[in-house]
Amino acid sequence: MLEKINHIGIAVRSLDEAIPFYRDSLGMSLEGIEVVAEQKVRVAFFQIGESKIELLEPTGDDSPIAGFLARSGPGIHHVAYEVEDIEASIGKIMQDGARMIDAVPRNGAHGTRIAFIHPKSSNGVLTELCQNVH
Ligand code: CO
Repeated sequence: MLEKINHIGIAVRSLDEAIPFYRDSLGMSLEGIEVVAEQKVRVAFFQIGESKIELLEPTGDDSPIAGFLARSGPGIHHVAYEVEDIEASIGKIMQDGARMIDAVPRNGAHGTRIAFIHPKSSNGVLTELCQNVH
């Protein structure tokens, strides 16, 4: 059902302050910066092998990332697994009794469809299912 790790999301206070470490010190390729209005975040993504690192900056105080930063400070926010058929994956997970935050997929960065599993069902790790739209 899961194909690979698509990306790891890292909450940061400021993309401008965080990007130089990943781009210059770690030498990762900055692929783009995108605002995801639906999630109230600005996302910078770096390609690393088959996966990405996504830096998530809140675009307002009501952003979920703003809440995360206030509670926990900067750090790993979620792990995203790539799936072929997100509806089928959601159905299987819910059938097995796990809790979804999103029972219906929504729009993610760079043309993906995403759905979050509740961290209570995934050992405290906010977990995203992510389907590329071809
Ligand atoms: Co994500």
